[in-house]
Amino acid sequence: MYLGIDLGTSGVKAMLIEADQRIVGSASGALEVSRPHRGWSEQDPADWIAATGQALDALKAAHPEALAAVRGIGLSGHMHGATLLDDRDQVLRPCILWNDTRSHREAAALDADPRFRAITGNIVFPGFTAPKLVWVKNNEPEVFAKVRRVLLPKDYLRLWLTGEHLSDMSDSAGTAWLDTGARRWSPELLAATGLEERHMPGLVEGTDPAGTLRAELAARWGLGAGAIVAGGAGDNAASACGMGTVRDGAAFVSLGTSGVLFAANGRYLPNPESAVHAFCHALPNTWHQMGVILSATDALNWHARVTSASPADLTAELGEALKAPAGVIFLPYLSGERTPHNDATMRAAFAGLGHESDRAALTQAVLEGVSFAVRDSLEALRLAGTTLSRVTAIGGGSRSRYWLKSIATALALPVDVPADGDFGAAFGAARLGLIAATGSDPLAVCTPPRTAETIEPDATLTAAYEVAYERYRRLYPAIREAMI
Ligand code: XUL
Repeated sequence: MYLGIDLGTSGVKAMLIEADQRIVGSASGALEVSRPHRGWSEQDPADWIAATGQALDALKAAHPEALAAVRGIGLSGHMHGATLLDDRDQVLRPCILWNDTRSHREAAALDADPRFRAITGNIVFPGFTAPKLVWVKNNEPEVFAKVRRVLLPKDYLRLWLTGEHLSDMSDSAGTAWLDTGARRWSPELLAATGLEERHMPGLVEGTDPAGTLRAELAARWGLGAGAIVAGGAGDNAASACGMGTVRDGAAFVSLGTSGVLFAANGRYLPNPESAVHAFCHALPNTWHQMGVILSATDALNWHARVTSASPADLTAELGEALKAPAGVIFLPYLSGERTPHNDATMRAAFAGLGHESDRAALTQAVLEGVSFAVRDSLEALRLAGTTLSRVTAIGGGSRSRYWLKSIATALALPVDVPADGDFGAAFGAARLGLIAATGSDPLAVCTPPRTAETIEPDATLTAAYEVAYERYRRLYPAIREAMI
């Protein structure tokens, strides 16, 4: 039996799988994001432990025997967060999350140092970890002075689970301190932010054993004593392991809080100029590229909140048949944007509203806006040398057929919908736990799910979508100046 734990932005999910990868059960614990100032986004690491405990309590109540048989545990988590610990491993301040944009000036300054793009293969985005540490150094020097260790969110859970300070390559690639091609910390880049390698966790591959469950926790949840904890992965690479997106050219689009267009690469293919992320994959000797949209379902959730409706009601109101874009454009930049703009201070916009624009017209524009943002990522991946022939859709937003049709038409690519099942980050993490505990061949374990259905682009609307996409592209530079 194997356990996957995914520390998501809105909750922790724990999933149990059998040795043959059948899902036994899953449970979750809720998390909130605190936004004390515009552009800030934080979580208290103690809440991650509490939410993990909540999920494990529920699993224990439902599947006590299965929990007792756990041999391997895999971890996944939201990436880039700065969890700062003192010399007694005490948390020094709330974790600054991936969608926190306060350090945009520090990020721009680091990005202007050519060594960062050359060594990491990426733009230094404000969401990444390194500029956050510079922000802390500049704004909270008393905190910075006490920093003994910087951990990524899922690695803080590992510290709690095993007592080890370790991380994996895929998550570490999102810090802006990793030499992504060589898969090791860059002492040069760490020094550029006032840190040394001793501040960082040791590095392992996502499929490697990286700690053993502490006896005290094994006893508390009746978990298999001596269970191995795998290196694990950042949530996108973990989802890719769950989806079997591990062979060169395979791709998925994830419509979660953030949106991601992810492609697996057999080699390291950086192209920071197109604002594509080039990271290590969770499997050895494998890399991946991705375009990242900061607000995907978050954009629909925002619209639902301000219209006092539920996201499901809003999408249901549109019906299933895809509509032609109706002239209302939504730029989904509620937290700024990464790919393709690398713009932390831009904010979202509706344009083209008329007296006739009702709630459904706004919902349509929100879904289209996110689809066009994914199309921007597709173009960025093309510029980075990756051509996709199809993508698989995952994440909460993929439950809307309307949205899937909109994505397929905006990308002009078939979108595969996996057969019923849960192939997300928690499942991918459980697979990594299985590999680490058994030494199984990662490619034999990380296979794709059966495709239940393929959504083709709507040929009658491709031209109208293309016109709308061009307008969408023109809108950002046109209103950028006015939005500051
Ligand atoms: C990826 C990214 C997000 C987070 C949150 O670069 O910032 O996808 O990992 O899930």
